[in-house]
Amino acid sequence: MSNLKGKVAIVTGAGRHKGLGEAMAKRLAADGAKVVIHDIGVVKGDIAPSHGVGQKAELDQIVDEIKAAGGDAAGFTGDVLVEKDVAALVDFTVKSFGRVDILVNNAGIGYLFGPLIDMTQEHWDAVLGVNLRGCFFGTKHAAKQMIKQGNGGRIINIASQAAKSGFAQAAAYSASKHGLVGLTRAAAMELAAHKITVNAICPNHVTTGLGAWQNDFMSKAQNKSVDQYLADMRARIPLGRPGLVDDIAKACSFLCSDQADYITAEAMNVSGGEEYH
Ligand SMILES: NC(=O)c1ccc[n+]([C@@H]2O[C@H](COP(=O)([O-])OP(=O)(O)OC[C@H]3O[C@@H](n4cnc5c(N)ncnc54)[C@H](O)[C@@H]3O)[C@@H](O)[C@H]2O)c1
Repeated sequence: MSNLKGKVAIVTGAGRHKGLGEAMAKRLAADGAKVVIHDIGVVKGDIAPSHGVGQKAELDQIVDEIKAAGGDAAGFTGDVLVEKDVAALVDFTVKSFGRVDILVNNAGIGYLFGPLIDMTQEHWDAVLGVNLRGCFFGTKHAAKQMIKQGNGGRIINIASQAAKSGFAQAAAYSASKHGLVGLTRAAAMELAAHKITVNAICPNHVTTGLGAWQNDFMSKAQNKSVDQYLADMRARIPLGRPGLVDDIAKACSFLCSDQADYITAEAMNVSGGEEYH
């Protein structure tokens, strides 16, 4: 466990059960941080469909679960595509808990997959918009607040194995996650003077709600059953299993702790050895 007592964290896209955001937020709360659970909270057509996004009631439940476990949390809904929503998230956090020490940019679209020759501009823009521009907005507004506070900070970007390798049927997703590693490195260079570290985590596959959708989509695209698709995945992962939400939560907790003071501009693989570049 890391000691994050007295720290205040924001985790975006954390309002869905089984998600990486939920697991990271609960872990940071268990480590002692006060946590703002953020998510979009509503369905918005096919770029934020009901199978892909966290609804307000689910977000409220996650806040209640953290409080019931003895942690401190508050919920906020907003769209990371909209800069004023992201600025309002930072303002809400400061009003609720007095400061911002940690931002986890986790909200992402991983469900607009398909052949690139059929991909529409609308879908391309949505994926790049949420996965990359949204993280830029978060970094910008959280860093402003952290610089004002003068005690440094931590920014963690949830990238992907698709930030290091290309994946068929996922051109926009892979491009957005590669871009997120670029944003991580550039922001780390610029914010180091303020003792703000910026790192990315690159998970391989985790069967979250989104991960389950991807299993279904990719197994159909490869003409296999989901069971066969998962068996093939296990066979190529040196540690013999896909990731678990706790694997990512532990890495996040470490990067937020004092143990990681001298680590910045990294894109850390948490992939059981499947990705090592
Ligand atoms: N599950 C995996 O295998 C895996 C692997 C690598 C990376 N990731 C990344 O991890 C992150 C979390 O994914 P997850 O698998 O936990 O899925 P998830 O669906 O639980 O989390 C994604 C969250 O992003 C939110 N979101 C989407 N559009 C938004 C918007 N416009 N504004 C605000 N929030 C929005 C969704 O509501 C959802 O709660 C994503 O960035 C994803 O790309 C996941």
